[in-house]
Amino acid sequence: MIQTCEQIPYPQLAEQFGTPLYVYSQDALTQAYRAYETAFSGSQPLICYAVKANSNLSIIQHFAQLGSGFDTVSGGEIARVLAAGGSADKIIFSGVGKTVAEMQFALQNNIKCFNVESLPELDRLNEVAGKMGKIAPISLRINPDVDAKTHPYISTGLKANKFGIAMSDAERAYQHAASLPHLQIVGIDCHIGSQLLDLSPLSAACERILHLIDKLAAQGIELQHIDLGGGVGINYRPNDNPPDLQPYADKVAQLLAGRDLALILEPGRSLVGNAGSLITRVEYVKQGEEKNFVIVDAAMNDLIRPALYQAYHHIDNVDGSRQNRMVADIVGAICETGDFLAQEREIAAQQGDLLRVHSAGAYAASMASNYNTRNRAAEVLVSGSQARLIRQRETFDDLIAHEKACLVE
Ligand code: LLP
Repeated sequence: MIQTCEQIPYPQLAEQFGTPLYVYSQDALTQAYRAYETAFSGSQPLICYAVKANSNLSIIQHFAQLGSGFDTVSGGEIARVLAAGGSADKIIFSGVGKTVAEMQFALQNNIKCFNVESLPELDRLNEVAGKMGKIAPISLRINPDVDAKTHPYISTGLKANKFGIAMSDAERAYQHAASLPHLQIVGIDCHIGSQLLDLSPLSAACERILHLIDKLAAQGIELQHIDLGGGVGINYRPNDNPPDLQPYADKVAQLLAGRDLALILEPGRSLVGNAGSLITRVEYVKQGEEKNFVIVDAAMNDLIRPALYQAYHHIDNVDGSRQNRMVADIVGAICETGDFLAQEREIAAQQGDLLRVHSAGAYAASMASNYNTRNRAAEVLVSGSQARLIRQRETFDDLIAHEKACLVE
């Protein structure tokens, strides 16, 4: 049996578009989005897809058509959402380092909300908005100091992280925001980390934030929305159970009951991660003295997660009938020892075979680079029996387009 994406066999896609190739299932994107809508139907949230997980225009457009809003972290991401037809009044703008130019751009486009992460950012935004004759809608990102129990690089809600405003400074920060004439306080937000497999820290964070909302209300600061960020994990191994959204959604609904607060969520990975695969061809099988290596045409520039977070991605042969399994490191061609997609993995692989790296819809293409002067791979969106090229493979000319060899001898 040959694996397929929806109705199209991967070898056909590889033949048509070449490898390495990111392949996404449109139906899987829709289902992941609907799973949020269904689980949270009691709270009617604005789901703001976190664009950083996969920022391809067609992916953004698809979520826009499903009614999604967008969580963005740069002027570039805002521009992408607008270019893909997303509506500005559903864009929220997060991030610790917003520049003046990015603030101006977001204000010009009348985005829904700035998630502000520090006191100096409040002052800057107030000044920028004032000069433009605008009022900036803001939420403060509060650090609830909850341990998300995930990889340290993707845990963001602890005191030691650069993100957000400490819980102990929150009231002072809101008072300060309330004193600034060109800001309008509309909400509060938090984001405690990513790839959370136990969702109880998320509801714990919600409880802490609600407690703060009550204290603010007592001081005359009324909020319209609570944004609980993203972070819901996905299964990266075939037998893993993905965390169940429903108990989390039920707990949030129970906590929000009777309050006049709109709910915002910022899921990224859980909307796209398992909708995508990276298809790569085996270039060589190298039997070393101590180890075997399957050398493929994808590399850490296409999928940096294994190198950066020791992340596990399931990999198998697109042709399920392949025999002769061996234990090998599955590596790319980049000149780094860290350039591996998997280590000590049991795999059936012969030269010329196609391998499928699973769960490559999130933080794969969007984190890709041109290291070692490698062209970034093409991306394809499959719907039923139709495949659309949504990003063409880069060429050498693309790579050097902004460079010049201009030294005079
Ligand atoms: N909201 C904010 C403010 C965020 O910083 C993030 C992710 C999200 C939402 C979406 O979180 P998600 O639902 O995807 O967990 N590159 C890493 C993940 C970094 C996550 C950064 N922030 C990885 O490949 O695992």
